[in-house]
Amino acid sequence: MKDEVTRDERIDNLKGMGCSRKRVEDARFTQGKGNYVDDIKLDGMLFGDFVRSPYAHARIKNIDTAAALEVPGVLAVLTAADLEPLGLHWMPTLAGDKQMVLADGKVLFQGQEVAFVVAEDRYAAADGMEAVEVEYEELSVIVDPFEALKSDVVLREDTVDENGKPTDGAHGPRNHPNHIFTWEAGDKDPTEEVIANAEIVAEEEMYYHRTHPCPLETCGCVASMDKVNGKLTLWGTFQAPHAIRTIVSLISGLEEHNIRVISPDIGGGFGNKVGAYPGYVCSVVASIVTGKPVKWIEDRMDNLMTTAFARDYWMKGKISATPEGKITGLHCHVTADHGGFDACADPTKFPAGFMNICTGSYDIPTAYLAVDGVYTNKAPGGVSYRCSFRVTEAVYFIERMIEVLAIKLDMDAAELRRINFIKKEQFPYTAALGWEYDSGDYHTAWDKALKAVDYDGLRAEQAQRVADFKAGKTRKLMGIGLSFFTEIVGAGPVKNCDILGLGMFDSCEIRIHPTGSAIARLGTISQGQGHATTFAQILASEIGLPADSITIEEGDTDTAPYGLGTYGSRSTPVAGAATAMAGRKIRAKAQMIAAYLLEVHDNDVEFDVDRFVVKGAPERFKTMKEVAFAAYNQAIPGIEPGLEAVSYYDPPNMTYPFGAYICVMDIDVDTGVTDIRRFYALDDCGTRINPMIIEGQVHGGLTEALAVALGQEIAYDNMGNVKTGTLMDFFLPTAWEVPNYETDYTVTPSPHHPIGAKGVGESPHVGGVPCFSNAVQDAFRPFGNTHTNMPHDHWRIWKTANGLGLHD
Ligand code: CDP
Repeated sequence: MKDEVTRDERIDNLKGMGCSRKRVEDARFTQGKGNYVDDIKLDGMLFGDFVRSPYAHARIKNIDTAAALEVPGVLAVLTAADLEPLGLHWMPTLAGDKQMVLADGKVLFQGQEVAFVVAEDRYAAADGMEAVEVEYEELSVIVDPFEALKSDVVLREDTVDENGKPTDGAHGPRNHPNHIFTWEAGDKDPTEEVIANAEIVAEEEMYYHRTHPCPLETCGCVASMDKVNGKLTLWGTFQAPHAIRTIVSLISGLEEHNIRVISPDIGGGFGNKVGAYPGYVCSVVASIVTGKPVKWIEDRMDNLMTTAFARDYWMKGKISATPEGKITGLHCHVTADHGGFDACADPTKFPAGFMNICTGSYDIPTAYLAVDGVYTNKAPGGVSYRCSFRVTEAVYFIERMIEVLAIKLDMDAAELRRINFIKKEQFPYTAALGWEYDSGDYHTAWDKALKAVDYDGLRAEQAQRVADFKAGKTRKLMGIGLSFFTEIVGAGPVKNCDILGLGMFDSCEIRIHPTGSAIARLGTISQGQGHATTFAQILASEIGLPADSITIEEGDTDTAPYGLGTYGSRSTPVAGAATAMAGRKIRAKAQMIAAYLLEVHDNDVEFDVDRFVVKGAPERFKTMKEVAFAAYNQAIPGIEPGLEAVSYYDPPNMTYPFGAYICVMDIDVDTGVTDIRRFYALDDCGTRINPMIIEGQVHGGLTEALAVALGQEIAYDNMGNVKTGTLMDFFLPTAWEVPNYETDYTVTPSPHHPIGAKGVGESPHVGGVPCFSNAVQDAFRPFGNTHTNMPHDHWRIWKTANGLGLHD
């Protein structure tokens, strides 16, 4: 048979890997046809809302719900006393701690859930909330983790025994009632010895402030208990629907097959929607009690003030080097503020996430890390925001330490990085703090980045600017922000990564239909990352059917295979690998069918783009479409009908994307106003599935990095009041603040991933924050600045300039 279509045209027709295929999900989003949780409207649906604590630390003396129950439309008011007989007044957190669902005797942070009002509509629920009378007795508030570790005030009564002695926590002994855990990695004594004997040592203390992902859609759910069939359906903003199903089963006692969890369209997650929130539990209980569906949707203040925050890490570092700039040791101590409950979502064995990636991209022979987790009177959480389990903190730490060391050495910071990069030939590289980096080519990426921005030219311009400033010719300084980051994404492997005992594999199930189209279901769930587009591209290349003929479905636990969800840029490294592996199972069976149809031995056919070809006789072939049909209508000896496969993929290692970012910034020393003149971002995420989607991920991540570095903060006063609980106070950048990003790439495939892909979604945030911050700090370096804390808003920058005497 003669084929009129060229091989290149066949490849293009698939829209497989490497193609900037347009996002298929955007048709519904751009036409307002998305189906978010708040779009779900069920017959007789009720609404629940929380009475929240105005105090950060208080004993609850009484809750009077009588007046609330008189409010027209209010049907019930749940308190901890109602949940206690069900054993649901506290719930487990993903970090192994437990958390109050509704205030049990006291509140530990402002905005904590005190009572749940269930009403016929949202307005009645709001009126009911107003009518609940809570009598509080204020207690001393602690918002400073260092004070918490010294204070006599015991924040959590369950952390001490009857003699007042601290009990063991989920991760070992506590050394104070307000202490959660100490986690160590690396070699303490050798590191301290190296640093004590080093010729050059730089030290710095830095605070990575508390912030919040602030997804456009807040968290929410609809719980619907069908008492006739005994089935609970729970729609919600869940980044890990299967894990939520298991947790609901464990805490409610409902059998897991009777629970269906559905994540509909999600309007941004960034980690904020990984955890389990009291709203989910209360909605389920309310639906069971009333027999009606119950919806709970946070408002913006609820979301900012009470759901999982990010960061809040106090980091103290020491870095030693030879006078020539070769780093010899790194020491890091972190005081981690977890708020009232340790509710972060790190894999069980890593109470401080992957903070032990803090040696960064550098060949540092000796290192030690210790992290102390602490309770304070702030909202719980602590892993979210486009960060693979504290990697953002780790990269910020090392990229600031490098800058501080460069100042100490009086050396160019780009050169200092180059001297210390792990070399290409050292991969796979085992870092001093334990991780085995799978692959990397840092020098090539760094050289490409420096050349692209004419780094030497920029430094010459900066030197001239400093001279002009000193001569009174300008009031603007120029900063060159550098950042080179190594990410660690793709949790599993199951052997060392689990959440609440659930191993972190992921899955894909494929069904090929007789006419040569397909549906693939995955254990992940997109929150805007474009999975419906890109997973179809992986499959198109693997099985030779056009991506346009493949539907991707995620988020329904009744149909999708079990998976651990989407966060920490794990979708591509884990579910993407499962997709490729399931595709290969399809291909293997299809090859046998094709060989039968072509009347040759299995080994005599080979796969070529979209068909199986007889080796040495390219005119003899069967397309995948033909094979699919044959799978359903031919009786083939020894082969079952149908063409389906499933893969559960346990990754052998994480993937290690990396990147080189450079920011050029002008700063007006009199107003503190920053102007980002240029931002260059080179990312290496291994094999690139969809370059356009990658670019979109990078733009979004950089914008969130800009937000965090330059102004975004969840700030508290000494009374534990949240000062930034609305979008009037919480900086959310718009097109006005965002520069024109230049994106670039190198490709260093992951050696263990079936298609060589690494994650990318979180990289720009991880690498972007230190880059923006370093630009600000670099502008002031010629005037004696070593480090100032983020966020670098105009006021703080003005203060830095003032402190350096630049206004004199
Ligand atoms: O887990 P999450 O989806 O947040 O992050 P990711 O795995 O980094 O993927 C984000 C998006 O970028 C997905 O649509 C991926 O398919 C796409 N991507 C890609 O096209 N090529 C890569 N090498 C990595 C991700």
